Amino acid sequence: MPTVLEALKNRSSKRAYTNEKIPKEILEEILQAAGHTPSGANMQPWVTYAISNAQTLKNIGDAIIAKMNEGVVHDQFIQYYPVKWTNPYKKRRIVTGAGLYKLMEVDRKDDATRLQMWHDNFKWFGAQTVIFVFTDKANIDEAQGAFIDCGAYMQSVMLAAQEFGVDSCPQGSTTEFGKVVAQSLQTPDNLALLYSVVLGYEDKDAKINSYQPEKVSLEESVTFID
Ligand SMILES: Cc1cc2nc3c(=O)[nH]c(=O)nc-3n(C[C@H](O)[C@H](O)[C@H](O)COP(=O)(O)O)c2cc1C
Repeated sequence: MPTVLEALKNRSSKRAYTNEKIPKEILEEILQAAGHTPSGANMQPWVTYAISNAQTLKNIGDAIIAKMNEGVVHDQFIQYYPVKWTNPYKKRRIVTGAGLYKLMEVDRKDDATRLQMWHDNFKWFGAQTVIFVFTDKANIDEAQGAFIDCGAYMQSVMLAAQEFGVDSCPQGSTTEFGKVVAQSLQTPDNLALLYSVVLGYEDKDAKINSYQPEKVSLEESVTFID
């Protein structure tokens, strides 16, 4: 069983999974533990759909890919990525993406393979469970606190999963097609999709799962005032 520090340091995004299902009681335990995430005023703004039904996942993924094929770039409730990328974030994004493509020996100009890799998001990287996290639109109407709370909830899910040897990949790619997900799942009108997290057992033979993007140093990200 990993310590909290081990879980924090050992977790990394996995992008290839076996077809082994997560037992329901383990999934419930992970989500129950994540429910202990603190939130402002104990609002607990996360509204989670935990989907392990293969047909439902296929329907959502197919609907997103069909939308992309129509030339639609996003159909979303919230804008996740910066509209204007500035440094150092722009550079980190480029380095992280380039490192992954280098590992997978995908040429910078190989648009077809890169698109295929993006589509893999909507095939859930072969995982059998995906959680879709929504919040009430009223929570994010001229307020951002629910984003903070639901972001913390995301990390709680991924860390709790580590205890059971369950791996994960957070997905902003579904955020970009949040309205397609909502339509596919026929969620109530008051809900807006924030993100999804793929959960499952990593394919240990998959090269892509060895990717460990660099993290910035403590000095670069923290200002200590003693
Ligand atoms: C909110 C959020 C959205 C993300 N969206 C995607 C995604 O759509 N597809 C993907 O492959 N990885 C996605 N990632 C994973 C990041 O690329 C990854 O966390 C980052 O490169 C650091 O790598 P690590 O998770 O292995 O530490 C996302 C991560 C976060 C936190």
